[in-house]
Amino acid sequence: LIESIAGLESSASLAGNFVRNCWYVAAHEDELDQDFISRRILDEPVLLFRTSAGSIAAIADRCPHRLVPLSIGKRSGDAMQCGYHGTVVSADGRCLSIPGQTHIPRDSGTVSYPALARHALVWIWMGDRGLADERLVPDMRWLVHPQWATAKGYLRIEADYRLVTDNLLDLSHETYIHGSSIGNAEGESIANFPAAVTIEDDCVVHARRDMYGITPPPAWTGARQISGTIDRLQIATYQPPGINMTEAGYRPHGSGVDYIFLARVMHLLTPERANSTHYFFTVSRNYRSEDTALTAAIAAGNVATFKEDQLVLELQQKALLERGDDRVPNMVIGLDGAAIQGRRLLERAIQRERSDPQSAVLPFPLVPDIARWREAPAVSS
Ligand code: FES
Ligand SMILES: [Fe+2]
Repeated sequence: LIESIAGLESSASLAGNFVRNCWYVAAHEDELDQDFISRRILDEPVLLFRTSAGSIAAIADRCPHRLVPLSIGKRSGDAMQCGYHGTVVSADGRCLSIPGQTHIPRDSGTVSYPALARHALVWIWMGDRGLADERLVPDMRWLVHPQWATAKGYLRIEADYRLVTDNLLDLSHETYIHGSSIGNAEGESIANFPAAVTIEDDCVVHARRDMYGITPPPAWTGARQISGTIDRLQIATYQPPGINMTEAGYRPHGSGVDYIFLARVMHLLTPERANSTHYFFTVSRNYRSEDTALTAAIAAGNVATFKEDQLVLELQQKALLERGDDRVPNMVIGLDGAAIQGRRLLERAIQRERSDPQSAVLPFPLVPDIARWREAPAVSS
């Protein structure tokens, strides 16, 4: 731990530095049902829209003329017309027309970024575009698989994305800030059921917690109708820079059977600025997939739960800004283990890109190995 803390101190100067050579989630795909959206990503203003051919346009939200956001203008076919003097910019950032003149200055235009839609998510590459290989998009095919149902949502969090990952790798906070939803009582907290932390392939961290003979948390007794004394399993997984996954399962306590799969939650983090984060989440299940009421209840429940995290994370960010550096934790305790390993892997990814700008993040396989779970039994609703 001492070594880890020393590493974290050196990262204090890296605020606002991101891994760039990787695919980040820019939007849920259905957000592009509107004409366009504007979103700051890795501290750059980006304008996104779907062209009539179905491809995704991602260009800097900056007019080539006087730099006002193109998003104050309007869509003009497969281009954007600036709302200040009417210059038209194409889906790939070229200047197409300028009112009152036929001459288009050479090298006029705005930056464009590689972007694509896959599995209901829009992905963007903010780094070296020569490295933007579509095969490096993380495979999340279950998000659109017909036997799976996915609830989804988005929160903008006024906190460094690294704090959000710290939170997601730390299963212990559930008792204290999610007591009315997914948390268990204090007697059933992490102190009694510590998480086992493992590193895989030197690029992914897992924290696994098995909780034996506990009562189901409030969120599970409602829409999901789980009752009785259970064993509960949680596995938090992180791959830098922004992919977090939480899987959950349970079984009747003392049944001796495999865990029943409950949910697979993706927490996809894209830095907005150094101290703010786009948090895209999906909650997927492979049972009762036709039950749209359950999907809606899960979406609403997760938004409420994640807002509890948001409150704490934003307070934490404020405290760090007040103190004037971003070094965390201030005091290391046992339950920080997974978060410290996550930071270490992220720091390594940042350093690797600095020392080799031609390196890119290889996605870790995420397609679920559902065979290791028992199918959930049908529950009548
Ligand atoms: S600022 Fe856009 S056309 Fe002038
Ligand atoms: Fe949480």
